Amino acid sequence: MIVKLGGSVITDKSKKFTVKCSVLRRLARELASYTGPSVVIHGGGSFGHPVAAKYGIADGYKSKGQLMGLSLTHQAMERLNSYVIQAFQGAGIPAIPMQPSACTVVSGGRIKSMEITPIKGMLDLGITPVLYGDAVPDEKKGISILSGDQIVVYLAKKLDSPRVVLGVDVDGVFAANPKKEEEPMLVKKITLADRKLVDLLGTAGSDDVTGGMKKKVEELLELAKQGVEAEIVNATKPNFLKKAVNGESGLGTIICRR
Ligand SMILES: Nc1ncnc2c1ncn2[C@@H]1O[C@H](COP(=O)(O)OP(=O)(O)OP(=O)(O)O)[C@@H](O)[C@H]1O
Ligand SMILES: [Mg+2]
Repeated sequence: MIVKLGGSVITDKSKKFTVKCSVLRRLARELASYTGPSVVIHGGGSFGHPVAAKYGIADGYKSKGQLMGLSLTHQAMERLNSYVIQAFQGAGIPAIPMQPSACTVVSGGRIKSMEITPIKGMLDLGITPVLYGDAVPDEKKGISILSGDQIVVYLAKKLDSPRVVLGVDVDGVFAANPKKEEEPMLVKKITLADRKLVDLLGTAGSDDVTGGMKKKVEELLELAKQGVEAEIVNATKPNFLKKAVNGESGLGTIICRR
């Protein structure tokens, strides 16, 4: 099982460096109810995104000053990661962080290769590896942002994950941004035939340097091509993530082949 804890859920994206500690503890308990092997990836929320945006990391290397930004973005993510690890330990999950920038070669913003042998080793032992969106050196752009969403899809393919669950702060994918439009329609299922709908989605806005909901859905449709189903659920609602990781589907938006 591959699970993404959205930065939109575990942090307050409107306030820099704010962790939602009680939400994180609840989600750790919910994840602990799943006893199979799992890899968890978390997003940047109000830690990674604002720092990366300030230094234009996602735009590629332009000046030396950005290198401190790369360092600071990474550090912000490590800070958030330490909260996640602590919450998991508190819920009885033996979790170990895996630094994406140390095991991934990125080219043009896309993963070229990732050393996953240590991840497999941890899973065999019953350890939960925890990765996160990271600021990385990039073969083509010099520097870039490797999104947690892209890591989710890459690992799901490489580890033959049967299903992927992504927790966000909204009920799923809507026909328009639910925080801007009044009562848009919730889309219960998106398949490869729904490309036109995805074009209309729009991004999350300035607080997300990796393309927000639209890019997330595009990444997951790539995964759907391989026959792996993903579901985006509202993890701010108690027990939604728990039910989803334990096999219940239809709680949010399913992204699948057909
Ligand atoms: N069509 C849409 N349907 C649903 N949410 C949308 C849509 N368009 C924009 N959004 C926004 O996308 C947000 C979720 O994406 P966002 O990238 O901010 O979260 P995340 O991936 O959990 O965070 P992070 O990137 O920090 O992990 C929602 O809070 C919502 O405001
Ligand atoms: Mg995002």
